[in-house]
Amino acid sequence: PTSTEKIKDVANFKFGAAVKSDLIKGESAYNNTFKGEFNQLSAEYEMKMNFIWTAENTYFFADCDYLVNYAQQNNMDVHGHTLLWYKSFPEWFKNANYDTVTFENKVKTFIQTVVGRYKGKIKSWDVANEIFNDNGSLRVESQIQGKFKDPIAFVGRCFKYANEADPAAKLFYNDYSVVLAAGKRRAMKEMAVRFKESGVPIHGLGDQFHYRISTNQTQISNGFADLVSTGLLIHISEIDIKVNTNNVSTYVLTDADKQKQAEVYKNIVKLYNAIPANQKFAITTWGITDKYTWLKESANGFKEYPLLFDESYAKKPAYFGFLAGLK
Ligand code: G3I
Repeated sequence: PTSTEKIKDVANFKFGAAVKSDLIKGESAYNNTFKGEFNQLSAEYEMKMNFIWTAENTYFFADCDYLVNYAQQNNMDVHGHTLLWYKSFPEWFKNANYDTVTFENKVKTFIQTVVGRYKGKIKSWDVANEIFNDNGSLRVESQIQGKFKDPIAFVGRCFKYANEADPAAKLFYNDYSVVLAAGKRRAMKEMAVRFKESGVPIHGLGDQFHYRISTNQTQISNGFADLVSTGLLIHISEIDIKVNTNNVSTYVLTDADKQKQAEVYKNIVKLYNAIPANQKFAITTWGITDKYTWLKESANGFKEYPLLFDESYAKKPAYFGFLAGLK
């Protein structure tokens, strides 16, 4: 790859990043790198239920509107993340402790208000995120588990509500460790088959791909092939590759780890690039630069360098590894 080639120009699928509106507004290097290098936008938090739905009849859309308009101005697609996630039910909603019918009617109103507002502007949505445990059982804390005898049927109706609000939007189920956790992947495949057989409009599956340089590449490859066998659109939806694999505060980034990271990105991109054209959607990195990664925000936020651009927004070996995977 030449040093001037851009991933977004070489890839025959969208190259996205999760971004924060305050950094786009506040840091020019962040803004310029994003609009110069990527062609799809995911919101790191601005499009989540608790951020938008601040009270039963109160919606906060300013930051979503800003991001959607920004994407349109910069000729980028927007991937909506995410309508249903157990971590983003608002406190006021949880405290209302609605009965099952009211619960569903309120969620339906939320989905149709949000998806309808961005009809034709947000091309795809994660309708549901992380409803399964790694063994394939349903998360108990998912809010919906407690409410519904058949939570999967409820999730399917949410796909329909989104589809009614914007029939052109591609609708995804998104989760993490999908290619590694056989139980979770089996549950996702069973749900996808059930949805397709019952006319639920599901179009794609996302694996977040929050992996590390020590993740077993053969396991990734085998699990990925199984995911692709569903025939649905496939989204590598939140990729970052950890180098501080023991998560220690004393970690020092080495050239060897940078090269290993580049190799892992290359292998994953090679896998994705080889899937059938009609299943290609996007690879999205969760963040742009090592300067701002959720992995440092998290409680044990030690040193981490998981992305394609370093803390000075320079392209890392990982960027060129990603490019090499496209060849
Ligand atoms: O709410 C404030 C907002 O008022 C303020 O203006 C803004 C300024 O930066 O910060 C907001 O705070 C936090 C926000 O991140 C921005 O840092 C939220 O409180 C905090 O909850 C939010 O965390 C996000 C988290 O999801 C929960 O939404 C992380 O950035 C984001 O990286 C993380 O992303 C998740 C995916 O959605 C699902 N997969 C796992 C991934 C990592 O946990």
